[in-house]
Amino acid sequence: MKNRILTIGVVAMLSCLAQVSLALASPVQGQQEISYKSDIRPIINDYCLSCHKPGGKGFEKSGLDMRTYQSLMKGTKFGTIIKPGDSYTSILIQVVDGRVHSAIKMPYGMSGGLAKDKIELLRKWVQQGAKNN
Ligand code: HEC
Repeated sequence: MKNRILTIGVVAMLSCLAQVSLALASPVQGQQEISYKSDIRPIINDYCLSCHKPGGKGFEKSGLDMRTYQSLMKGTKFGTIIKPGDSYTSILIQVVDGRVHSAIKMPYGMSGGLAKDKIELLRKWVQQGAKNN
């Protein structure tokens, strides 16, 4: 009887330890931190900015100005497009994934869309909190 209680105790402790070590391990294997300035800015400059600044057709239609971090975080005239920490519901990621509607897949009119590695950078950056880093 005593042994059984001991066994249960040990098992509970081990599974608790396993969870702790999992939690500790994930940020480590959770790859490098994505930088707004060195990873995200260049993608925006090359693939988005031509339309998403005053005078560009993306800006004229949606109000989304991507010239600065602040204007990017402000979003469109309908609201924000980035939910820090939640890449799945962030509109920014949905439109480059083509998940909203093929007609508003971004970059607008680009056949094939944005390269997968660039989408991944955007996704991770949002997932990591969309920091101004
Ligand atoms: C060739 C021009 C062009 C380029 C390049 C472009 N966009 Fe757009 N974007 C548009 C237009 C036009 C709209 C409005 C679409 C609509 O409402 O029909 C828009 C709308 C959007 C919206 C708002 C969607 C909504 O909720 O209505 C987001 C977010 C967006 N673009 C992100 C991006 C991102 C990110 C890039 C770069 C990867 C990009 N765009 C590149 C033209 C462009």
